[in-house]
Amino acid sequence: MAETTPRTIAPAKGKLGVLCVGLGAVASTFMAGVELARRGKARPIGSLTQLATIRLGKRTESRTPLIREFVPLAGLDDLVFGAWDPIPDNAYESCLKCGVLDKHEHVEPIRDFLQAIKPMPAVFDQHYVKRLSGVNVKPGKSKREWAEALRKDIREFKASGGCDRVVIVWCASTEIFIQPGATHQTLAAFEKAMDANDVTIAPSMLYAWAALMEGIPFANGAPNLTVDFPALEQLALDKKVAIGGKDFKTGQTMLKTVLSPMFKARMLGVAGWYSTNILGNRDGEVLDDPESFKTKEESKLGVLEYILQPKMYPELYGELYHKVRINYYPPRGDNKEGWDNIDIFGWCGYPMQIKVDFLCRDSILAAPLVLDLALFFDLAQRAGFSGVQEWLSFYFKSPQVGPGLYPEHDLFIQHTKLKNTLRYLMGEEQITHLGVEYYEYGKE
Ligand SMILES: NC(=O)c1ccc[n+]([C@@H]2O[C@H](COP(=O)([O-])OP(=O)(O)OC[C@H]3O[C@@H](n4cnc5c(N)ncnc54)[C@H](O)[C@@H]3O)[C@@H](O)[C@H]2O)c1
Repeated sequence: MAETTPRTIAPAKGKLGVLCVGLGAVASTFMAGVELARRGKARPIGSLTQLATIRLGKRTESRTPLIREFVPLAGLDDLVFGAWDPIPDNAYESCLKCGVLDKHEHVEPIRDFLQAIKPMPAVFDQHYVKRLSGVNVKPGKSKREWAEALRKDIREFKASGGCDRVVIVWCASTEIFIQPGATHQTLAAFEKAMDANDVTIAPSMLYAWAALMEGIPFANGAPNLTVDFPALEQLALDKKVAIGGKDFKTGQTMLKTVLSPMFKARMLGVAGWYSTNILGNRDGEVLDDPESFKTKEESKLGVLEYILQPKMYPELYGELYHKVRINYYPPRGDNKEGWDNIDIFGWCGYPMQIKVDFLCRDSILAAPLVLDLALFFDLAQRAGFSGVQEWLSFYFKSPQVGPGLYPEHDLFIQHTKLKNTLRYLMGEEQITHLGVEYYEYGKE
């Protein structure tokens, strides 16, 4: 029996435009993977919207539909793609340059599709991404002018693609570290700073502002501030638009948010956690700049603090030494290697060590997240969920949350939250895992 009334959700009819800011490794791998899946040439592995089921009701009811059959999501055939990038490569050239997908098996067979995705000129300023330069940039000198040009791009993309709805996912480079300041507190201050070309207004914020002004949901896959501050959070509420971020949770941090809840659940101590990476793609090159790395570092470091709660458990985690390194190493390309050395201690304080060596593929892990985020943000928008989408924390290293809340980092709590939100949307009973109703003592 349903416990709540289902939300009114507008149907997913017509085309959904997915606009990626950035057409590098992640975005091109995402678009190619969707097209390959549509043609039956590859499977969308890693995507909950395509593969996962959801349990409904009691364990004895055996009701476990696919998520995509339970909630009204846009279908893969209804997606239309577009992008901005200061590098003029189309999606075919980007796939070949990034070298994530096999040229003969996965790129050449969809060459026509990929070549048709050409990036629109970007709003780009090297001050915010030091290791990049590009020629495909918007003319004009003022931030207001650029932001208005982005709004025009969104409208034209929507019209030319015959789209019913659009979502935007930031898949562009990590910008330099910016702390929220006075210009980020109110919309009036933000727009005034935009008009004054203030240095605290980064290009990513202009994309986010343009999206919100056009009523388009915006998800941020990088650790930049972008839409994570009061001015744009308020604008999202005013315009009734879904927003969220930050930083796709894919490799080392995903492992961290699985392993550290285990240590805490068992009350095992952690003395130190040393994480290092070698990475040779363009993202690695951008992160080789200390100012962009600082943005990433902040995003990666926060996780343990929140999960282990050293203030609550000082004898277990109070002295924890946490270090994160990313080293640019070109020979590896997109195939990152992430090492973790974890020094833990147990009964009577005896030390133990855990070593993790994750030989992963960055964009292969991130592409399904872009797909899920596009589909779930569109769902949220149609369901009238505006403002920060905390229920999608599952996908982010540094989840954006409402004012006064701390983020939930534990992957499995995030997973439960996501699925319970889907049950809530459809008016299904929440699953608490209490389970006493199966036993005599629960029936008394
Ligand atoms: N791959 C992962 O597992 C993963 C995980 C978490 C976060 N991320 C983040 O996702 C983003 C994309 O990663 P990637 O591997 O595709 O990087 P990439 O360098 O291959 O692609 C990023 C693209 O963004 C473009 N760009 C930079 N500034 C722009 C702007 N202002 N407007 C439009 N385009 C702009 C660049 O020219 C580049 O083509 C990075 O910020 C990365 O840190 C990736």
